[in-house]
This record gives sequence, C-alpha cells and structure tokens, in this order.
Amino acid sequence: MRIVLVRHGESEYNPLNIIGGDPNLSEKGLEFANNLNKFIENHSKWFPKKCICSAKKRVQQTVGAFKNKMKSILVSENLNELNAGLCEEITYTQFYQMYTEEFTKRYQNKLSYRYPNGESYIDLIERVRPVVEDIQSKGEDVFIVSHQAVSRALMAHFTGENLEDIPHIDIPLHTLIVIEDGKKKGMISVGSIDMSDTLIQESFDFA
Ligand code: G3H
Repeated sequence: MRIVLVRHGESEYNPLNIIGGDPNLSEKGLEFANNLNKFIENHSKWFPKKCICSAKKRVQQTVGAFKNKMKSILVSENLNELNAGLCEEITYTQFYQMYTEEFTKRYQNKLSYRYPNGESYIDLIERVRPVVEDIQSKGEDVFIVSHQAVSRALMAHFTGENLEDIPHIDIPLHTLIVIEDGKKKGMISVGSIDMSDTLIQESFDFA
C-alpha cells in the first residue's frame, strides 16, 4: 500500500508564522497547487487516485487544482489541523509574549502539551486514528492532503515513528512524503525553482 502525504500549499498565514485559523492559499500556495496537478498528470500510473483531505479552506483550495485527476475525494474534519485553542490566529512570538508560561510548558513537552481550550499531539494522534484504521482496513493507495501537525500524527500510525519524535518531524511545504508498506520511502519537492520535481531521498522510483 502506497500512502502519499502532503501539506496544503503555502497559506496567507504561513509566511507570517500565524498559528491555525482558516486562511486562504497565498499566491505561492496556488502556484504549488497547479504544479501538483501537473505532477499528478505526469506520474499518473504511480500516483494514488483516492484522496482524503481536511475540511480547511487552504486544503480544499489545494485539492481543487487536481480534483478531476482523482477517482474519489473524502473530506474529513478528523484531518483538520491541531486545534491551538487560546493561541489560534496569533504568531509564535505573540504566544511567547502573551502566555510565556504556557509557551515554556510546550517547549518542555511538545508531545503531551495541550493548548488551553485546544489539543495536544497525543489528542491529535487519537483524532486521526479512525481515518488511519479505515485506510488500513481497505488497503488501497491513498493521497492525504492535510497539515503539518496532522501529517506528523499520521506518520506516528503509518511508520511507527518514536512518539517523542513525532512533534518534531520535518514536514516541509510543497513536498510529498511517500510511505510504502509502513516505511518512509522518500520525499519529493514538487515544482522547485527550476520547475523540476526533485527527489530528495533517492530510495524509490516514482516514474
Ligand atoms: O499549529 C500548527 C502547526 O502546523 C503545528 O506546528 O506543532 O510545530 O507548532 P507546531
């Protein structure tokens, strides 16, 4: 079973380091969505045709660019980004300045830290569990379009990464993460500056 994970394209909040919310894609994010559409077309034999995605606008706008390439699209609120509660729609700098004690608690234990009125990574890992179980029981290849923290939580289930490492896994924007048979096979940066797709980790063939 092949699982391809990706974050939504760059949102209007990403360059400003604003946490959460429901922003639109930025121009760069829209460009990525179009590049992703071309990538799927160029690698159509290899690419999963079943898409599962979050309900947030930035994800829906990303999926909108390639929806006609998919056989099915399932929207699940269980794939919405980590709920940062009190800290939704503020920057990390504001989080530190306004709620220093909370910021420090999170820094010390990012896995179990629960935002006031929000969630922890442990909560998120449990929230995505039913989606993962459904995918595993069906055994079909899937393309999951979601968010940074959600992609980390999904990796906890699909690859069995060490739980302590989960909140720190690097999930770059505009990059596909390929998991096959429970192992992370590699990452593909889609539509880089020279418009070519770059295989970051050369351990598989995506032709
Ligand atoms: O809140 C949204 C972010 O994608 C999660 O990032 O857990 O590294 O702060 P963070």
